[in-house]
Amino acid sequence: MPLVTSKEMFEKAYKGGYAIGAFNVNNMEIIQGITEAAKEENAPLILQVSAGARKYANHTYLIKLVEAAIIETDLPICLHLDHGDSFELCKSCIDGGFTSVMIDGSHHSFEDNIALTKKVVEYAHERGVTVEGELGRLAGIEDAVNVSAEDASYTRPEEVEEFVSRTGVDSLAIAIGTSHGAYKFKPGQKPQLRFDILEEVEKKLPGFPIVLHGASSVIPEYVETINKFGGKMPDAIGIPEDMLRKAASMAVCKINIDSDLRLAMTAAIREHFAEAPSDFDPRQYLKPARSNIKALVKHKLVNVLGCNGKA
Ligand code: G3H
Ligand code: 13P
Ligand code: ZN
Repeated sequence: MPLVTSKEMFEKAYKGGYAIGAFNVNNMEIIQGITEAAKEENAPLILQVSAGARKYANHTYLIKLVEAAIIETDLPICLHLDHGDSFELCKSCIDGGFTSVMIDGSHHSFEDNIALTKKVVEYAHERGVTVEGELGRLAGIEDAVNVSAEDASYTRPEEVEEFVSRTGVDSLAIAIGTSHGAYKFKPGQKPQLRFDILEEVEKKLPGFPIVLHGASSVIPEYVETINKFGGKMPDAIGIPEDMLRKAASMAVCKINIDSDLRLAMTAAIREHFAEAPSDFDPRQYLKPARSNIKALVKHKLVNVLGCNGKA
């Protein structure tokens, strides 16, 4: 099976009231852990690559690793650029075999965001590639850009119809209170999402797939393990799973997860070295890291996203 776009996945997810997991990938073990989990759960997948991941691992290596995963799993997999910040980056990923790109113009004015997004959509659609745009601004860290809570802004539902019709995007990321990274809420703060905004967006764009970034739950067990074995993470709070399930049952068709993968991997490696401090064989610590990612992704597919059995 070749790489697929997000189009059919989102149509089925919208109708079925579930979401596709979009997992960030940076190396072989992460790709293997995610795709082994999806194979066992027969789940469709979006594997996404940030500009930082592409710089770290190299475009060709990532493409070839994902192609290998398709051969091994025979699953529908979409390879997506996460947070593309320029036409040139999106073009390079489209020309290089990605089947979906995000153009994140959310830092620009409404008009500039539309112009940039439209340009990417025109190029992508001529080549059969789907495009995700973004309206509203999430807090947190992406690719070394740190957006403070004060600079973050919720999506304005009154803008979404115009944005989608003028740009022609295939899906839209919105800001309803999620944020990137492990520190999504202040210590003691009760996590809350603006479901009223999601409902308004859904009314304005019936049947249109919505994307939730910054959607890791920051699973406490991993943070505890990291801190038990020498880590020094401050109180970290993520998005509660029941909120993600609710979003998935609504218009949200794609849920982005990166921080939970990082935590799962780091927890396993720290635990390994606590038990085997003299170890220096990378296979010995990357193997439990990969297993932890697999267990995490299985949990997400079945208990959070509801896309198991939907491949
Ligand atoms: O939204 C950002 C993702 O977590 C990717 O992070 O840019 O550090 O690869 P990165
Ligand atoms: P998290 O940091 O919550 O995992 O979000 C990842 C993300 O949105 C990638 O685009
Ligand atoms: Zn994101």
